[in-house]
Amino acid sequence: MEKCVRRIGILTSGGDAPGMNAVIRSVVRTAASKGIECVGIRRGYNGLITGDIVRLDSDSVSRIINKGGTMLYTARSDEFMTEAGQKKAVATCKMCGLDGIIGVGGDGTFRGLLALSKYGISVVGIPATIDNDISCTDYCLGYDTAANTAVEAIDRLRDTMQSHERCSVVEVMGHRAGHLALYVGLATSATVVLVPEKELDFEDDIVESIRKARLGGKTHFMVIMAEGVGKATKMGERIAEELALDTRVTILGHIQRGGSPSARDRVTAASMGYEAVKVLAEGKTNRVIRSVSGKFEDIDIVEALNMKKGLDEEQYEVLEAMTGIYV
Ligand code: F6P
Repeated sequence: MEKCVRRIGILTSGGDAPGMNAVIRSVVRTAASKGIECVGIRRGYNGLITGDIVRLDSDSVSRIINKGGTMLYTARSDEFMTEAGQKKAVATCKMCGLDGIIGVGGDGTFRGLLALSKYGISVVGIPATIDNDISCTDYCLGYDTAANTAVEAIDRLRDTMQSHERCSVVEVMGHRAGHLALYVGLATSATVVLVPEKELDFEDDIVESIRKARLGGKTHFMVIMAEGVGKATKMGERIAEELALDTRVTILGHIQRGGSPSARDRVTAASMGYEAVKVLAEGKTNRVIRSVSGKFEDIDIVEALNMKKGLDEEQYEVLEAMTGIYV
């Protein structure tokens, strides 16, 4: 028999991502449409441990669709990694009568959900990270907004690099993956894009590419570097020294995580939030919502955590074709 779902909780955990508020809104309003009550758990898994819970209704999520950050705050909880922490969290779920929890975040958030599920709590994960590095899904909430923020910043940098005929080394986020760097590099027609998935050969990848560009008539150069590759400051120093180039380094950092979500992130949030509530209402548990070729579906959480996501090789091929031609 299907378990009757009366009240669910939502939390955001790990690094924030644009679109988290939009997904909270979607969850609360979808739940309301199905007669399910919703509470917000603040500060990620810490809030479950301490009972930091707020009631959410349609009104409390009004006018947040366009807001960056997360109204529920977020955290990375060390205490939740312990059995004692998990037991406190489960006690909060029981005390508040929560039939299910929706966790919005990355792999760490999903592992937290899995831990909760071992105590009989129904759980569903929604992928949200600007790194777009969650293996089971084509798309993670926040990626589009972060990429657009980075592109806008790099376009501005290009203006000044061009005027001074300089080389710019720009470090973008991405954790250990190069999805964001590759995407942004393609969008800004970078001279060189460095990603952790491809082993770096300084001479071939950087010196030769910049030389070719120079001989093709370029007088300014844009090197986009994923943070997972190493320190941009060191890279800048090395380029300045070995190529005798006036070089400036910019670390875009957390600016990429802020700001109003793009239309894509708002609409994806609406669909993912809707699917997550639907899955819980159907009595399912241990699921992650994912996007595959523009369609939304749910997948087993363990299967999701065991998948491996490589760099988009097609995108990389396009990049290789685009760079190195300077006419
Ligand atoms: O996962 C999102 C992310 O912004 C990564 O790109 C980055 O490596 C990390 O979080 C930074 O985390 P923090 O908020 O702890 O600085």
